[in-house]
Amino acid sequence: MVTMKETPHIKPNGVEIAETVLLPGDPLRAKFIAETYLENAQCFNEVRGMLGYTGTYKGKKISVMGTGMGPASMGIYSWELINVFGAKNLIRIGTCGALQENIELYDVILGMGSATDSNYGHQFNLPGQFPLTASFELLQKAKNIADEKGQKVHIGNILSSEIFYHADPTVMKKWTDIGILSVEMESVALYWNAIQARVNALCILTVSDHMITGEHTTPEERQTAFTKMMEIALELA
Ligand code: ADE
Repeated sequence: MVTMKETPHIKPNGVEIAETVLLPGDPLRAKFIAETYLENAQCFNEVRGMLGYTGTYKGKKISVMGTGMGPASMGIYSWELINVFGAKNLIRIGTCGALQENIELYDVILGMGSATDSNYGHQFNLPGQFPLTASFELLQKAKNIADEKGQKVHIGNILSSEIFYHADPTVMKKWTDIGILSVEMESVALYWNAIQARVNALCILTVSDHMITGEHTTPEERQTAFTKMMEIALELA
């Protein structure tokens, strides 16, 4: 979709934004993905340093853009990409903290459903609870791609928390006990915005730290380890 529109946070200066957008939290990761994997990548956003690029991958047009951290930031960027720029497939590629013992550092998780402590969904004023889920189509495709590549993925519910530094250490144990696979901070806003606009969203996450064992990765280790996740996401386009 070609558009000359702009928002307070995204000024594409005539560069097209593709219907499929990969969304890392870190804008420098968006730059890295564009430079490493995309052909003819053009930068479509520099506002607030939230870099976005459009290029092609195996002949298909694809965009990649940073979202920042937390539901507020993801909420702004995903809302604008969907409702102003016509994005139809939004794929978050991020990191998470594992909440189950059988999940290891660098494992890949597909977020089928998202539990949350955020009030992002209160704006919809629904008379009950709503199950925040990924697009089945994207989830199924991602699982098939992982299977074809022989890559193990965990599929299940994740926690989208507003809080990174939890004052009460018993909080995470409750989410572990109810079967949540891992914690991150953006799926609530992404899934709500996609569901409300009837477009597709999926979170593909790499485990960067472990909430039970206390293990964590270094930034250098992450850069290479996250290739597995990015390759699944790129094939989804
Ligand atoms: N993203 C990566 N690790 C996380 C954690 N421990 N909590 C929330 N978000 C995360």
